[in-house]
Amino acid sequence: MCGIVGCTGSMPVKKVLVEGLKRLEYRGYDSAGVAIQQDGALEVVHRVGKVAGLESELACRDLRGTCGIGHTRWATHGRPSTVNAHPHASCDGRIAVVHNGIIENFAELREQLQARGHVFASETDTEVLAHLLEEAYAECPGDLLTALRRALQHVIGAYGVAAVCADEPGVIACARKDSPIVVGRGKDASYVASDIIALIDATRDVVVLEDGQLARLTPESITYFDERGREIEPEITHVDWDVDLAEKGGYPDFMLKEIHEQPRVVRDTLAGRMVGGELSIDELGLSYEELNLIDRVYVIACGTSYHAGLIAKNLIERWARIPTEVEVASEFRYRNPIITPSTLVVAVSQSGETADTLAAIRDARIRGAKVFGITNVVGSPVARESDGVIYTKANKEIAVASTKSFLGQVVSLTLLALLLAQTKGRLTTAQVRLLFRELGDTAEQIERILHDTEAIDEAAYACKDAASALFVGRGIGSAICYEGALKLKEISYLHAEAYAAGEMKHGPIALIDDGFPVIAVATESPVYDKLVSNLKECEARGALIVAIATEGDEEIKKIARHVIYVPKVRDCFTPITASVPLQLFARAIALLRGCDVDQPRNLAKSVTVE
Ligand code: AGP
Repeated sequence: MCGIVGCTGSMPVKKVLVEGLKRLEYRGYDSAGVAIQQDGALEVVHRVGKVAGLESELACRDLRGTCGIGHTRWATHGRPSTVNAHPHASCDGRIAVVHNGIIENFAELREQLQARGHVFASETDTEVLAHLLEEAYAECPGDLLTALRRALQHVIGAYGVAAVCADEPGVIACARKDSPIVVGRGKDASYVASDIIALIDATRDVVVLEDGQLARLTPESITYFDERGREIEPEITHVDWDVDLAEKGGYPDFMLKEIHEQPRVVRDTLAGRMVGGELSIDELGLSYEELNLIDRVYVIACGTSYHAGLIAKNLIERWARIPTEVEVASEFRYRNPIITPSTLVVAVSQSGETADTLAAIRDARIRGAKVFGITNVVGSPVARESDGVIYTKANKEIAVASTKSFLGQVVSLTLLALLLAQTKGRLTTAQVRLLFRELGDTAEQIERILHDTEAIDEAAYACKDAASALFVGRGIGSAICYEGALKLKEISYLHAEAYAAGEMKHGPIALIDDGFPVIAVATESPVYDKLVSNLKECEARGALIVAIATEGDEEIKKIARHVIYVPKVRDCFTPITASVPLQLFARAIALLRGCDVDQPRNLAKSVTVE
């Protein structure tokens, strides 16, 4: 979603801001802008569309200022337009702000500010901040940090915010509440951003502001404050990932690069988990006794992470025999779930900052549940607000469509299911070890799938012009279908739905006519024959069947026009192998349809608003 960058130093800042904004493009946005201090005033430039457009516009301007802020906006309040793009300025144009998050009481604040004579230029919630700051600054001229702190006292909602003022050359003030802000010192400059990735060219030592904290940046130093304005000593986080991670590494797009990283994700997620022949997840934060008491599990998540939860339900119930519910976080938070002290809530989130998932975690904890987070981002709000956490070891995921982080989630949830089964004594140590070993073998099996993708490309070509597609499976295979369908619709804009195959004749089969694509996860399983019967019914009505099948299955060729083979694995591990061809299938169709696979329209990498 929205992204923030800011820099103050001794060199012109225009290029730094543009490069920082480019690093944030992966989050999804619809407009971009900068505010740069120049000759005692602020120059504000915004554009609808890509950062490249803003860059061209800035290239024509003689901007030499050495302090400025920038923003990529994903529209929430007000359509994508130049006037709604950040930065937003005060009436006198001497203060400018960029903001991530939502100001919930903006309508009320706007009315009050208008009554006091402020004139608004945009429809955004953010603009109230610029005007509040203008008023607060009049009370403490020359102290932007204090003015920001006071202005924010009127605000209800979430914010990561950075501000500059024409009267304070070289100063940036920033603050956070429920929306990330990171700050760091480079060689000759100070930097702020909403995401570490925008800073890694400048520094590896960053401070992730806590909720309520503020920072004042100058070219020489950064000073940190708590919400009462007292100076504090922050904790410095060292970031050890490589700049290369943020690059495509020779692949045509991030999505393909990330799909190819999946064997490594499996290996890294499993590394160090089998200690002395026993499965161990120390970070769980729960004792053996507490684990043993668990009698109900909720998995809460959104989107792709929710689909990982569907797989977890199957495995936890299969192995540990603990009743497990999977629920989208936006529903969970608004109903009255049955939670007791023996309920374990597992919150799954790649970004670790999804607003609905965070709200659901808070709700579950208030109700007395233990919350266990599964996330890809170290130190993210989900990690910090959970009792324990597993990091998925996927490393930074840039493409908006989750691939490697989904796989990391599935592997982590499989480990959790095995641990619960081991603790409850439902699986013997020998069974756990065997399953763990086979789980590890999937890394090599994925490599084999990635090695030969011809059948996937052919199937994609056959389906590329369809208006709609159905993904069907049975058992754990149906859970994979939900993810396959989401992947296809989000990056290719081809409408797709997933169904448990047994449901076809209760309605969806009415859709089938000549050439209608039915993508089936038809790998070897106890319900394989049942699935084949369902597929025959579709084939009889003209469906174009694409089957993901187990190597050696010749029978399936009689009904499927395209067969994509995956190595033979135990049924419980098909989510890992079968999801890889579905990712490649979605990407291939998206490219054939001319779509931008890394940055699909209307989507954001990190959904920090409700
Ligand atoms: C995945 O391809 C999607 N872009 C999206 O559904 C995503 O999984 C969802 O927004 C949840 O995000 P999270 O895992 O960061 O919480």
